Amino acid sequence: MAAVDYQQLLQDVMAEALGGGARGRSADYIPALAAADPGAFGMAIATVDGAVHGVGEWERAFSIQSVSKLFTLALALAEGGDGLWRGVGREPSGNPFNSLVQLETEHGIPRNPFINAGALVVTDRLLELTGDAVGAVREFLRTESGNPEVGTDDAVAASEARHGHRNAALAHFIASYGNLRNPVDSVLAHYYAHCAISASCRDLALAGLFLARHGVRVDGSRLLSRSEAKRINAVMLTCGTYDAAGEFAYRVGLPGKSGVGGGVLAILPGRGSVCVWSPGLDAAGNSVLGVAALDALTTATGWSVF
Ligand code: DON
Repeated sequence: MAAVDYQQLLQDVMAEALGGGARGRSADYIPALAAADPGAFGMAIATVDGAVHGVGEWERAFSIQSVSKLFTLALALAEGGDGLWRGVGREPSGNPFNSLVQLETEHGIPRNPFINAGALVVTDRLLELTGDAVGAVREFLRTESGNPEVGTDDAVAASEARHGHRNAALAHFIASYGNLRNPVDSVLAHYYAHCAISASCRDLALAGLFLARHGVRVDGSRLLSRSEAKRINAVMLTCGTYDAAGEFAYRVGLPGKSGVGGGVLAILPGRGSVCVWSPGLDAAGNSVLGVAALDALTTATGWSVF
């Protein structure tokens, strides 16, 4: 079988995504993110052997936002096991990522770990398990990417905290059902801080490889069992892009996790991990060019899970 020319593949995919016209709008509900250029673009593919290839601004750090929820989930499961699922479900919500509506009828148990409500519960459990949820995520990203400069952008975290009425409302509401074990303020601070981690497409593609390797980390140690890794990939596929998860599965056909900073991390089980960044978002909060590029990638190669 001919070796894949990843560089050429990425060039072709980038050209196709940028040729599409639509760009979307940068997130403006977190003022520190509003200034980003919606047409900026970077993309990286890391393969299970640890090689990484990129195009565009693939080494530029951006705000990872909800992509961090993938790492909090993996670490909370690794540290605390299946008990996590008593406090958070694993069904798609069909609602926007910051919605409150289902929480009341569902007794403070969020639908899944990737909407904000569910991520707050996961952050709470990771905080309980480690004493430092954001530190655990940062350390994991640094180790897996080999980049010690992965860090939290305090200005972004502070900006989100100042405008975080919805997240604060979600956290208090969940706490009113007894589903948080730490003070609301601590949970929110760790949540804002892990969302405000800055990392590049290169860093995130490398950090996602443990899922492509069915649970095995860069140093060969096992973070998750093969079955747990499969389950995280499944929840990413069904819930990772919120109320657009059906459309994402339809177009891309891979487990993927997006963030309002414009990043999308997708897993090619057994083969590698791919991260795209472009800050222009669609109405669901997913990167327009990021999804277009992943669509072009899987269409060109057939590398979907289906
Ligand atoms: O809580 C928030 O609103 C942000 N820190 C993260 C939201 C996000 O990235 C949703 N993604 N598409």
